[in-house]
Amino acid sequence: MSNTAMTVSEAIQARRATKHFDSEHVMSDEEFETLISHATLSPTAFNIQHWRFVRVNDRSLRQQIAGAAWDQPQVTDASLLLVLTMDVQAWQKEPERYWQDAPQEARDFILPALEAYYLDKPQVQRDEAMRSGGLVAMNMMLMAQQMGYDSCPMDGFDFDKVAELIKLPEDHLICMMLAIGKQSKDSWPRLSRLPQSEIVIENHY
Ligand SMILES: Cc1cc2nc3c(=O)[nH]c(=O)nc-3n(C[C@H](O)[C@H](O)[C@H](O)COP(=O)(O)O)c2cc1C
Repeated sequence: MSNTAMTVSEAIQARRATKHFDSEHVMSDEEFETLISHATLSPTAFNIQHWRFVRVNDRSLRQQIAGAAWDQPQVTDASLLLVLTMDVQAWQKEPERYWQDAPQEARDFILPALEAYYLDKPQVQRDEAMRSGGLVAMNMMLMAQQMGYDSCPMDGFDFDKVAELIKLPEDHLICMMLAIGKQSKDSWPRLSRLPQSEIVIENHY
């Protein structure tokens, strides 16, 4: 880790959606492990952990994905390209394992509640998976920042085509792609954010 002193505030302020990466830089397996192990401490409803990270190392697959992403250079040049996929049905795949460390009385209460929450509710299942994806992606980008990496969240690609290329299972969805690497060219100045007077609503609309 190259920048252990970075605070959360500093990581948030330093992160930019990076377009240009050093294509020569290699991320070590140890760094990858650090990134994943921190990102997956993100919260998920019922601890379901819908995320399934497709790490694309294969150069020709990267080229094909770039072709489905308007040839955005991040896809081929980032040290790490993840297709962040979500198992929408994870809620019903051996859910006991999500709660195996909890006391028995908690398990007795939570597991039926979990089933009742998702059963026959495809919109809820999907929304929940996407919520998990947004949270894990953000933590991954902030952790990357602390480790001296830059990142780009991406949805500028043909989802159906990328799903086909990575052989996405029927009951999974793609949330976004994440490109992580060393920035090779300065970003343009950050775009301004909307004023708080527009985005903060006190009590109700
Ligand atoms: C879900 C999502 C998808 C995005 N897709 C792309 C993309 O395909 N290509 C790209 O260059 N930037 C992409 N971005 C980056 C945004 O354009 C960028 O975050 C925004 O302009 C604000 O810039 P900043 O992140 O540097 O502050 C995406 C961001 C998000 C959150």
